[in-house]
Amino acid sequence: MPAISFQSVSKTFASPRGPLQALDGVSFDIQQGEFFGLLGPNGAGKTTLISILAGLARPTSGKAMVLGSDVQSDYRQARRKLGVVPQELVFDPFFTVREALRIQSGYFGVKNNDAWIDELLESLGLADKASSNMRQLSGGMKRRVLVAQALVHKPPVIVLDEPTAGVDVELRQTLWQFIAKLNKQGHTVLLTTHYLEEAEALCSRIAMLKAGRVVALERTSELLKSASSNVLRFKIDSPLPAEFEGKARVTGRIVQLPAHDAHEIERYLAVIRQAGLRVEDVEIRKADLEDVFIDVMSADRGGKAVAAPSLEAAPS
Ligand SMILES: Nc1ncnc2c1ncn2[C@@H]1O[C@H](COP(=O)(O)OP(=O)(O)OP(=O)(O)O)[C@@H](O)[C@H]1O
Ligand SMILES: [Mg+2]
Repeated sequence: MPAISFQSVSKTFASPRGPLQALDGVSFDIQQGEFFGLLGPNGAGKTTLISILAGLARPTSGKAMVLGSDVQSDYRQARRKLGVVPQELVFDPFFTVREALRIQSGYFGVKNNDAWIDELLESLGLADKASSNMRQLSGGMKRRVLVAQALVHKPPVIVLDEPTAGVDVELRQTLWQFIAKLNKQGHTVLLTTHYLEEAEALCSRIAMLKAGRVVALERTSELLKSASSNVLRFKIDSPLPAEFEGKARVTGRIVQLPAHDAHEIERYLAVIRQAGLRVEDVEIRKADLEDVFIDVMSADRGGKAVAAPSLEAAPS
């Protein structure tokens, strides 16, 4: 039995400018014990898919299951097996951290949970904030509490929607150590993030969503193999030669050119030399998940010719 199963999930929102299709026939399974990454640009439909899984939104068609329980017809069972860290910072300002975690335990019918609550507080660097009021916490600390809240009933399936947005380096590391430990103990993890190096390091399999459709679904190692194997990276002060246009990833002065082999790199260098350009800090690196992501997102892999929802069409 898969930990998570999406079966032809579609979701259309009503918007002032007409219907907006946020999800278009999404189907895939996540096996028990997997550390699975769900990636995609802003508005691709990641949070919508997670909301459907958590029973917070209804699919227009299709269904979602958690460990065999349908999230709609068997809501309570499904919800119990799931711990969701939401993307939005939602919290009750009247409670202390410990109270919030006790209340959440009560919601799931878990009694005498203080030992686990203490472990969560300790593991997430919140031990000294246990008696602080939620509204006294910084943004990053509130996010830690959301993680603790999601885990309070020790759910077998853990879903994290951008858990590291706005979180400092130290906590990112603490958080990943803790989540990786839970994953080793058998918990299934579904993660969305825009930090692709995190996804590359943690996830054994990755799905990419684009405009509500799955455009890639593979083992991370396979995805990495599919990319151009090397990237030539350098800094430049002058405009880019026309030959590089459409090929290069440009961030300020930094130019990155995907290359399949040594010949291609030589060719690029020849172009630079012939143009008489001054480049600095030249290096060649292995392609990473960000290169693959850009590749996949820029390719038109859409099989079906449907009007894809775009950010422009979204209600503000
Ligand atoms: N409640 C809603 N009503 C109308 N449209 C919505 C609603 N929720 C989401 N959408 C739209 O659905 C699309 C998908 O949004 P979603 O939040 O799932 O994207 P996402 O992949 O999570 O993006 P991000 O990376 O920015 O979090 C967007 O176009 C968004 O505007
Ligand atoms: Mg989102």
